[in-house]
Amino acid sequence: MSSTTKDEVVRDQWGTKLGFLLAAIGSAIGLGNIWRYPYVVYENGGGAFLIPYFVALATAGLPILILEYSLGHRFRQGTPATFQDLSKRWQWLGWWQSAIAFGISTYYVVILGWCLSFIYYSFGEQWGEDTGAFFIGDYLATSSGGAPDGFWDMGGLQLKVLIPVLIAWAMIYVLMRRGLSRGIELASRVLMPTLIIMLILIVIRAVTLDGAAEGLNVLLTPDFGALADPGVWIAAYGQVFFSLSIAFAIMIVYSSYLPRKTDLSNSALIVGLSNAGFEFLAAIGVFAALGYLAAQNGVGVDEVAESGVALAFIVFPQVISALPGFNALFGVLFFGALFFAGITSMVSILECVVAAIREKFDMSRKAAVNWICGVAAIVSMLYVTRGGLFYLDTVDHFINAYGLVVAGLAEVVLVVWIAKKLTEQRDHLNAVSFVKMGPWWTISLKFVTPILLTFMIVYSFWQELKDNYEGYPGSGLLVIGVGAVVLTLLLALALSLNSRDPHNDLTRSFKE
Ligand code: ALA
Repeated sequence: MSSTTKDEVVRDQWGTKLGFLLAAIGSAIGLGNIWRYPYVVYENGGGAFLIPYFVALATAGLPILILEYSLGHRFRQGTPATFQDLSKRWQWLGWWQSAIAFGISTYYVVILGWCLSFIYYSFGEQWGEDTGAFFIGDYLATSSGGAPDGFWDMGGLQLKVLIPVLIAWAMIYVLMRRGLSRGIELASRVLMPTLIIMLILIVIRAVTLDGAAEGLNVLLTPDFGALADPGVWIAAYGQVFFSLSIAFAIMIVYSSYLPRKTDLSNSALIVGLSNAGFEFLAAIGVFAALGYLAAQNGVGVDEVAESGVALAFIVFPQVISALPGFNALFGVLFFGALFFAGITSMVSILECVVAAIREKFDMSRKAAVNWICGVAAIVSMLYVTRGGLFYLDTVDHFINAYGLVVAGLAEVVLVVWIAKKLTEQRDHLNAVSFVKMGPWWTISLKFVTPILLTFMIVYSFWQELKDNYEGYPGSGLLVIGVGAVVLTLLLALALSLNSRDPHNDLTRSFKE
């Protein structure tokens, strides 16, 4: 048997190229696109933010995505083994990215659980008049009504949150157990087109509401002065990393399941641009709806615009209640879209961990999925407590700013400067791709990305030292935030020190 044939028999593979593209787009399009992006644009210069956003996409997002596709496609294995093959001592980085993904999965699922609850609450607008008090007080039962001094008051598990989180886990588990093409690919084939239709319906409804134009004005009026603020550039790079699912170990694993003859740069461009288009459309829908809410309340759009969790679970219920008709339908569409976008990202986040663990311990998919979902489900209970919102917010902040971005920088430095494999990767890409990578790609990865990311990390760290994030107690930030990042690193080191090779016998047999 030739090595390629053996490889194709042994390794999971996508059913079709379209299936892969939908799964990769499904991974990229997630919670980040719907609740994070609209507010990030608004807060960082409105229309002018599109400049740093596209610069970040062109100099880091797309080049790293293309690099990850080339690594996955060339080495055809999990991320730890891929990095080990690039340079002997760098297996830990693959484990670190996988551990970061694992950490993210433990709170991402909780937000999916909230979405399920809010689909149900949309019927009859069960959140009542005061949506903030409902979400924080009744639903999450957050300690001290959400004030930061309640940080350490963990309390017990909240049944109202626990049940939907367990339902979300059950769905994720089934998808993961069914495997690549019958689980993740099938779900993406059904959910991604449905999601796009849902988003289009949301946008059409939102832009035809009174006051929508004002919301769009606020979103898009460019504040070019913001471009002088380094924080705005950092926000653009952070958004592009999270949103494209790069440096999560995901895209390396997803492209490792591709057949040999696949156009890689073309796939990366399709995924990157679909993701950008989706988030831009989501921003239009969200801000048109906020314009309507502001007009109904007779206030400015700035008074109703909130970030992240509050935008989706406090402000949007207000929008839904204020609609002239079909309120429940709009609620189901919005929270359903959030759920569909999130679940296809969630399975990708877990798949990269499954791939790495399977290779290291020669495990079957079933066993690896049992272990990973089991442990992640236990850890996710931390966010189902009364202090859960604080812990979720803290872990999300630290793991993104100091986990994801640092691991992304380390990946680029490894390929370009340590292993010195950029030219080989480029040759590999260009041999299978129609759009060839030239100086733009090389210069971005050699200089632009590492310099900007280093600056970004130093600047964020400096900001961190100036003020406690969200006014949370220092002990909380240290134990939960820094603790989460340190834990992922320790886990990574432990897994890479373990004497067993990250390649399983099957991987090794086709490589030799
Ligand atoms: N890329 C995924 C998101 O945007 C993780 O939520």
